[in-house]
Amino acid sequence: MDEVIRVKGLTKLFGKLAVLRGIDCAIRATEVVCVIGPSGSGKSTFLRCLNGLEDASGGEVLVHGVSVHEPKTDVDALR
Ligand SMILES: Nc1ncnc2c1ncn2[C@@H]1O[C@H](COP(=O)(O)OP(=O)(O)OP(=O)(O)O)[C@@H](O)[C@H]1O
Ligand SMILES: [Mg+2]
Repeated sequence: MDEVIRVKGLTKLFGKLAVLRGIDCAIRATEVVCVIGPSGSGKSTFLRCLNGLEDASGGEVLVHGVSVHEPKTDVDALR
């Protein structure tokens, strides 16, 4: 139950294109998780949102309980 990543209602828009629409998931330590889907379905966008390379349009990504997209968060340290 050692939760490392928690995603809550993650949304990402590029203009009118909604690539991620309300993603919820939890990833625990030692779990190996695969993200699968057709080309252009948003896999890379999802991963970029998880590590803070991309801003989220809505929702929240927590790593060890720390919000990745909060301005005060030290994303380098979190990575
Ligand atoms: N910076 C961006 N600006 C505008 N649209 C983008 C941007 N990055 C990605 N997209 C669009 O978002 C959608 C998802 O792209 P993404 O690269 O996340 O898909 P993917 O699942 O990783 O695809 P692939 O399997 O080809 O790697 C696509 O329609 C893509 O054109
Ligand atoms: Mg990709």
